[in-house]
Amino acid sequence: MAALVGGLLLALAAAVASGGETRPAPVRNRASMGEAPRVGSLTPAAALAIAGQHVIDAYAGPNPPPSLIAAIRAGQTAGVILFSPNVADPAALHRAVAEMQAAAAASPEHRPLLILTDQEGGLVRRLPGAPALSEQAIGVRPDRLALAAQAGAGAAATLRRAGVNVNLAPVLDVYRSPGNFIDQYGRSYSQNPAVVSRLGAQFIHAQQADRIAATAKHFPGLGSATRAQDTDTVPVRVDVPLSELRTVDEAPYVAAIRAGVRLVMVSWAVYPALDPARPAGLSSRVIGGELRGRLHFRGVTITDAIEAGALRGYGGVGARSVLATAAGADLILACAPTPSANTPAIGHTAVSAIAAALLEHHLNLTAVEASGARVSALRAWIRP
Ligand SMILES: *[C@@H]1O[C@H](CO)[C@@H](O)[C@H](O)[C@H]1NC(C)=O
Repeated sequence: MAALVGGLLLALAAAVASGGETRPAPVRNRASMGEAPRVGSLTPAAALAIAGQHVIDAYAGPNPPPSLIAAIRAGQTAGVILFSPNVADPAALHRAVAEMQAAAAASPEHRPLLILTDQEGGLVRRLPGAPALSEQAIGVRPDRLALAAQAGAGAAATLRRAGVNVNLAPVLDVYRSPGNFIDQYGRSYSQNPAVVSRLGAQFIHAQQADRIAATAKHFPGLGSATRAQDTDTVPVRVDVPLSELRTVDEAPYVAAIRAGVRLVMVSWAVYPALDPARPAGLSSRVIGGELRGRLHFRGVTITDAIEAGALRGYGGVGARSVLATAAGADLILACAPTPSANTPAIGHTAVSAIAAALLEHHLNLTAVEASGARVSALRAWIRP
């Protein structure tokens, strides 16, 4: 019975694939038909569709603007990040998520839209509810292993209720001194990399068991950044020797990758030990060499906010997005460090610039398509 039904479904699927589709047959010479000339084998529309798979949009206020809904329906965005102003009214949030997912379902990509937020715990929580404890509060408790798992499961439950499917947590930074950049809001589990490794892995495992994707951040580590070294506002240089960077800051990523973490967020700081010329998120040495090559990460890489002050000197949003994509960032977080300044225009600029770079052969199409396949796999894995 099961086999018969399966066979019928397969036959139906084949019929839909061959006859039910309205996709036009490939046309060899479009220029002679008065259409835009093809550049290589890529049309401008195809370039936009590819570029759209690499950008996460943002907006201000409770309602997604019509331009964002149109971009989602056109398949020109991979997801949306939510901040406090977007989630203040639960009923409006519910409507917004439903509207955005309906637009994604009607898009050529069909797959669910990635909906992301920062639900770290303690002070850094966009949504009311679990996890109530900060990483710091968990790290000092004797029952911290169980609490880290509870925090991951709690975050999953809170996000699932709101329709969020990617958490930009846990923070895996190993803080060096009390009150520094990452410790000031209690965002680091411990000064001991072994403790951060174990607690981070617990959080990831528990949260992803409920199919809410976790994001280990901020690679290769912001634990030694001072209070004033905030990449949202200024260029930051993390002068940690290579051996320390690998044995302390990167150590928790080994455990996170082993636990199957789906995403890694790459920091906007410069790490001279790895690449003196560029911020980590714009560096193929950091993303391709260190994270994928040395640590064997196979999941999705995502940048921090593209409008961050740390990227002063790297051009506008378009130029930054192309540099990040060329460096191997799978997703560009097209948002501002200040939520009220968010608009889908930022994402639109990023998508247009990546598409133009593809058409002009300034980006490696094969590499960008492989990157898009990782994003697609993530969109297939999450539950909307
Ligand atoms: C383009 O990317 C592919 C896949 O990563 C790689 O194998 C190839 O060498 C790259 N081509 C160039 C010209 O860099």
